Amino acid sequence: MAVIKVVVGSVYGNALDVAEMCSQKLTELKHSVELLRNPEFAQVVIPETEVILICTSTTGQGEIPHNLLSFYDQLHDQLPQIPTVKYGVIALGDSSYDTFAEAGYLMDSLMQQLQAQRVGNNLVIDACETMAPLEEAEPWLLEWVKGL
Ligand SMILES: Cc1cc2nc3c(=O)[nH]c(=O)nc-3n(C[C@H](O)[C@H](O)[C@H](O)COP(=O)(O)O)c2cc1C
Repeated sequence: MAVIKVVVGSVYGNALDVAEMCSQKLTELKHSVELLRNPEFAQVVIPETEVILICTSTTGQGEIPHNLLSFYDQLHDQLPQIPTVKYGVIALGDSSYDTFAEAGYLMDSLMQQLQAQRVGNNLVIDACETMAPLEEAEPWLLEWVKGL
């Protein structure tokens, strides 16, 4: 059993739906899960945290959603080193934008700077390819969780 923080960046609710599904599945698998709709540094960067799962869409012109931005800025300013923490990223976007899934790439790049350990490959869900992000996320999650 791992202590998992599910961190959400969402404008219209798609990434939140994915995060809620992931939280439910991970809880069913007996992990200790906290879903953070408005994540704060002090809720996540604590010794108890073993795993961070980031579910974020991209908004504007490649921007991080408002509800995730202060967390991103706090991490970016403080650059805490968290080498024992494992993480994964589910990035929702739309490939018709030049800045496709940019917020997911920004979060992944930041986690790498913090020395966190990426588990598996990040999942990118393209709104041009699917109207059902949960159907892509669930099988990915069930594979990803085996790497924890
Ligand atoms: C105003 C607006 C701007 C967007 N900008 C981007 C973008 O820059 N890059 C991208 O990959 N997707 C972009 N998207 C697509 C969203 O990321 C995608 O629809 C996603 O599923 C929305 O998830 P959410 O409901 O959690 O916010 C944009 C969508 C809207 C409506």
